[in-house]
Amino acid sequence: MTMLGTHYLGMDLKNPLVASASPMTGNVSRIRELEDSGIGAVVLPSLFEEQIMLDSLDLDWYLSHGTESFAEALTYLPDLADYQLGPEAYLKLIEESKAAVDIPVIASLNGASPGGWVRYASQMQAAGADAIELNIFHIPTDPQKSGIHIEQMYLELVTQVKQHVSIPVAVKLSPYFSSMAHMGKSLEEAGADALVLFNRFYQPDFDLENLEVVPDLVLSDSNELRLRLLWVAVLSCHVKADLAVTGGVHTAEDVLKSMMAGARVAMLASGLLKNGTQIVQQLIHDLQQWIIDHEYVSIHQMQGSMNQQAVNEPEVFERVNYLRVLRSYTLKDSADRNPGSKNSM
Ligand SMILES: Cc1cc2nc3c(=O)[nH]c(=O)nc-3n(C[C@H](O)[C@H](O)[C@H](O)COP(=O)(O)O)c2cc1C
Repeated sequence: MTMLGTHYLGMDLKNPLVASASPMTGNVSRIRELEDSGIGAVVLPSLFEEQIMLDSLDLDWYLSHGTESFAEALTYLPDLADYQLGPEAYLKLIEESKAAVDIPVIASLNGASPGGWVRYASQMQAAGADAIELNIFHIPTDPQKSGIHIEQMYLELVTQVKQHVSIPVAVKLSPYFSSMAHMGKSLEEAGADALVLFNRFYQPDFDLENLEVVPDLVLSDSNELRLRLLWVAVLSCHVKADLAVTGGVHTAEDVLKSMMAGARVAMLASGLLKNGTQIVQQLIHDLQQWIIDHEYVSIHQMQGSMNQQAVNEPEVFERVNYLRVLRSYTLKDSADRNPGSKNSM
């Protein structure tokens, strides 16, 4: 393997940098630009369950037999003309990207409930996708549904998608499970070839003047990486599925930490949206320099070197770390805290 080479979803990637689903991967010329900048692979923006259902000839069936919540969801949908690509255009994007670039192209299917829409996975495969990333985006708010119910829904969805394709399937998920390690293992048993940690939730804000809920997309920074590092370091000891970090990858250090925690790839969206594709060249340069300066041989050599394998009792270790973090905070002196006070003059 080359210095930066990695293996993800059964594919050899020239480096661990992957452009995750965002507008940066939404058309062929940007995908070509990403390849020219040196990116290892791209994930296309998602095709959403709601888009598929709306487009489907079976819509009436779904509306009459489906859950009420789906019918309600349709009323919230933005005008589809402004809302990414419809299913046919999406399949065309896969075909055209595959024809235009040599790097792997991963299609993304985004939904929350098992159903007929998952058959689109097979059409994505037929259009040439090298793999599928299944983004299960669900915010459970129904007090009647237990955690077990939600977990079963995730597993059923993965099972259904796997039944439709022979290409590898990655599952992108949220961090909000009572037992993340158990969930990771269960997803692997359901057939997930990789786990992509984690979805970012775009929490809405309140507009106090107009008393409206306003969507507000805030791009990430490197602080968001830490939650991912924790769970990749834990999961890489327990699952064979590949692990991918998404969320908070902005610098070469972020990529190196992700690798040492046990990830195979580190994905970028905010970094690309803020800096354009030149960030990829910079990251590749910085990664190579760091590896040489620190006398490593390859990325492969460091993958998992800082996971939880080295820890005998991980749960005790995490509690001790928690205590250490709280104790490590030192209060500044009172003048710093009250700059306008008499004492500070
Ligand atoms: C504008 C924008 C659009 C996105 N669209 C998608 C999408 O269609 N499907 C998806 O799975 N993730 C989508 N994401 C999430 C990103 O792929 C990524 O997981 C997330 O932003 C965390 O990575 P980051 O910290 O590098 O931004 C989007 C993110 C942004 C900022």
